[in-house]
Amino acid sequence: MSFYTPDTVDCNGETFKLFISKEQIEQRINEIGQQINADYADKMPIFIGVLNGSFIFLADLMRHVSIPCEVDFFKLSSYGDEKVSSGKVTKLKDLDAQIEGRHVIIVEDIVDTGLSMSYILKQIKASSPASVKVVTLLHKPGAGKYDVKLDYVAFEIPTLFVLGYGLDYAQEGRNLAQIYVLESKSDDSKL
Ligand code: IMP
Repeated sequence: MSFYTPDTVDCNGETFKLFISKEQIEQRINEIGQQINADYADKMPIFIGVLNGSFIFLADLMRHVSIPCEVDFFKLSSYGDEKVSSGKVTKLKDLDAQIEGRHVIIVEDIVDTGLSMSYILKQIKASSPASVKVVTLLHKPGAGKYDVKLDYVAFEIPTLFVLGYGLDYAQEGRNLAQIYVLESKSDDSKL
């Protein structure tokens, strides 16, 4: 299989350079998958993917999970087409599954300010699950404004704008098989 893995990429007028390689991503996902297998050995967890950004991470992570499990999706919108958070979260799709009494694992692409995750946690906890844990591919600890507990973090990164492996810039770039960081800055960039 040939994956899309350039060293630099132009996306919507900005240049991004390689930041986290495919091999690094695969290694951390394998490690987290094994951890989840051990932690949930007899629990039949349900993974809740946060759309759109988590779809590639979730798909790869689930293929390292060898215990019985289910999956459902929750869709949010918070960034619009910008590189900084709008500070507002809108729910675009609710869960289909009943999660009362279930062991829930929320799967997110990136926790930046924590606004989206605190919103999701509140929604999920209102349905009385047996337990809730959070797994995120990326975490920007420097951007944290909301206090959210992250149980599995693949990579902690500085407060930079990143692209690829499910993460977009104005909806483009999700198909990149690695993670890239913004190199050039346009005039309207606030980063
Ligand atoms: P938060 O609510 O500020 O934590 O932002 C979470 C959401 O913002 C993520 O699910 C992403 O969709 C988006 N996001 C945050 N940082 C980035 C980034 O560096 N690149 C692309 N999307 C990002």
